[in-house]
Amino acid sequence: MNKLIPAALAAAAVAIGAFYMTRPPQTPAGPVETASPGMGDPLVSIALPDSLSAEAALGQRAFEATCAACHGVNATGKMGFGPPLVHKIYEPSHHADIAFQMAVQNGVRAHHWRFGDMPPQEGLTPADVANVVAYVRALQRANGIE
Ligand code: HEC
Repeated sequence: MNKLIPAALAAAAVAIGAFYMTRPPQTPAGPVETASPGMGDPLVSIALPDSLSAEAALGQRAFEATCAACHGVNATGKMGFGPPLVHKIYEPSHHADIAFQMAVQNGVRAHHWRFGDMPPQEGLTPADVANVVAYVRALQRANGIE
């Protein structure tokens, strides 16, 4: 009788192992829209990446200094100011990295949202913007936007 217990445990362990091995890889949940955000509130809540590359970490600093005023902390958007960049609209196949360079250099005429135009942003080199892109892409990937 007692010998059955280890056997049952072993069988259970094999079953659990098989379950995890055959399960499809978990896809990240993706950004969740904030319900009725107030002025200045983030527009989505997101999962953060476990770690950032050196490039992305530099990009985070530049983003917080220059872009977060409108695009919100962690690019989650800011009610009344600017859209989340962690959003399906900004996936790489729709807004390639060059779109970020152009947005910073020339500004953006309002077309996807109702926040008004984005003015050109001063004081960032193309290399700085490339770091910002690395950061935003890392945030996007952590939320299933690739
Ligand atoms: C003064 C507010 C403001 C600041 C600061 C700002 N943005 Fe924007 N940005 C906007 C708004 C508003 C839009 C949305 C325009 C639309 O599509 O309606 C936008 C759109 C964008 C887009 C999408 C462009 C496209 O082709 O549709 C990118 C990329 C972007 N911003 C990147 C940045 C980066 C990077 C920074 C910092 C260097 C930054 N923004 C700073 C307001 C801002």
